[in-house]
Amino acid sequence: MSRKSTGPATFLCKECGWTSAQWVGRCGSCREWGSVSAAPRGWRDREEDAAATGLGGDRGRRTALRSLEAEPTALADVATEESHATPTGVAELDRVLGGGLVPGGVVLLSGEPGIGKSTLLLDVVSRAAAQGPPALYVTAEESAAQVKRRADRIGAAASNVYLSAETSLDAVMASLARLHPGLLVLDSVQTMTTESADGVPGGVTQVRQVANEIAERARAMRMTTILVGHVTKDGAVAGPRTLEHLVDVVLSFEGERESPLRLLRAMKNRYGPTEEVGYFEMNGTGLHSCPDPSGLFLSGHATDVPGACRTVVVDGRRPITVEIQALVSGSGASPQPRRAATGIDASRLAMVIAVLERRGGTKLAGADVHAGSLGGLRLKDPASDLALALAVAGAAENTPTPRGIAAIGEIGLTGEIQQVPRVEQRVAEALRRGAPAVIAPPGTGTVTSGGTRHQTMEVATIQDALDAFRILGSVYPVARQRG
Ligand code: TYD
Ligand code: MG
Repeated sequence: MSRKSTGPATFLCKECGWTSAQWVGRCGSCREWGSVSAAPRGWRDREEDAAATGLGGDRGRRTALRSLEAEPTALADVATEESHATPTGVAELDRVLGGGLVPGGVVLLSGEPGIGKSTLLLDVVSRAAAQGPPALYVTAEESAAQVKRRADRIGAAASNVYLSAETSLDAVMASLARLHPGLLVLDSVQTMTTESADGVPGGVTQVRQVANEIAERARAMRMTTILVGHVTKDGAVAGPRTLEHLVDVVLSFEGERESPLRLLRAMKNRYGPTEEVGYFEMNGTGLHSCPDPSGLFLSGHATDVPGACRTVVVDGRRPITVEIQALVSGSGASPQPRRAATGIDASRLAMVIAVLERRGGTKLAGADVHAGSLGGLRLKDPASDLALALAVAGAAENTPTPRGIAAIGEIGLTGEIQQVPRVEQRVAEALRRGAPAVIAPPGTGTVTSGGTRHQTMEVATIQDALDAFRILGSVYPVARQRG
């Protein structure tokens, strides 16, 4: 294909990387004013080569030419390089990566500032260096002393770990040649600069070129590389998003600042699956893996309380038990009642309240309703609808819910309870967590857990569910008193 056919794009937006054949005052993609200027010389060539070969820069061009001259190889004869994943020792990270880090692989870890990226990677670096070749941690945002203080705080072993407070990629390249690390962390890619590209640090031209150069070196040296990328809540930073196609793995680190819970997800993984979610807890001694996260989302009620019900959500491959709590107050008094939700979508709460009122006969008009999930988990799984409805109804009726009872099911607008995916796994998880009874959609039947068969309480409508809930409320506290 002739390059001329697409026309030379020689103007570049420094915010988002959009290109244009002529100068314009406002970017055609990100709509930023004054961000478009003449692209640096050679910019387009580099981009095309990178796209064509998966490699950046001149080497990419050479590789492309060579591969055209070479004889094609029969697929059956292509030598495969085993990509052995090496566990990092951080259990939840290994789970998300599908085993561990792959030599020569490039990982982008993105997340909001302050979420815990540096803390996680310091732990990873110190574990990796303890077992194998040295690890190099390039801290382009904090001083080496700050990183050392953090290492002491989280008890990270320091042997074989090298720190470099450096923002120049060219200086880092020189260190790589001397040290030959097995693992490199660049914290962060937005604060590194390379002399082989123009543009401001953190701008798209610089960020891409830094990532390109380091990825090429990483593959050549079979060195694992982790790039840290900051994103803001609205995702406006010209950084991580533009790097996604250049790296092998994209991890996203999420959580609310106020809660200790942190979730790690793989958005892209050339070496393994992407559906797994890692759970961590941040506390005064660092970031800790939570292999059995349900414990984070359950209260330690010693007695039965009104307005609480457990459910089991599936995010990634693990079913997780979560407690939902609700409070109903000021019944009928307010012309504009408050409806507040924490960790639950406000429109979902509104829908559940409407169904309870219209189909379940629960009196909520004019009452303030507060509802939330425990432990800061955001509930997106519709299977939690039923437990939310029962928590709100229990709070409105002020009837204590027997401890540990779980409800699983999606609620339709007509009040019917719908089946959810992987219901058996969810019921088994609720039973494992000690549920004396599980309310579930029709068709769930019996579930075997811990060697015993358990009959779920199947409910077809919200009305049935409320009845089942009331029956359980009268049966279990009495049974407990006797026992
Ligand atoms: P950090 O790893 O610096 O975040 P990022 O690199 O993503 O910007 O984490 C910063 C936050 O974590 C900071 O608010 C303090 C908190 N923190 C702890 O709660 N416990 C700890 O042991 C450490 C090291 C940090
Ligand atoms: Mg940091």
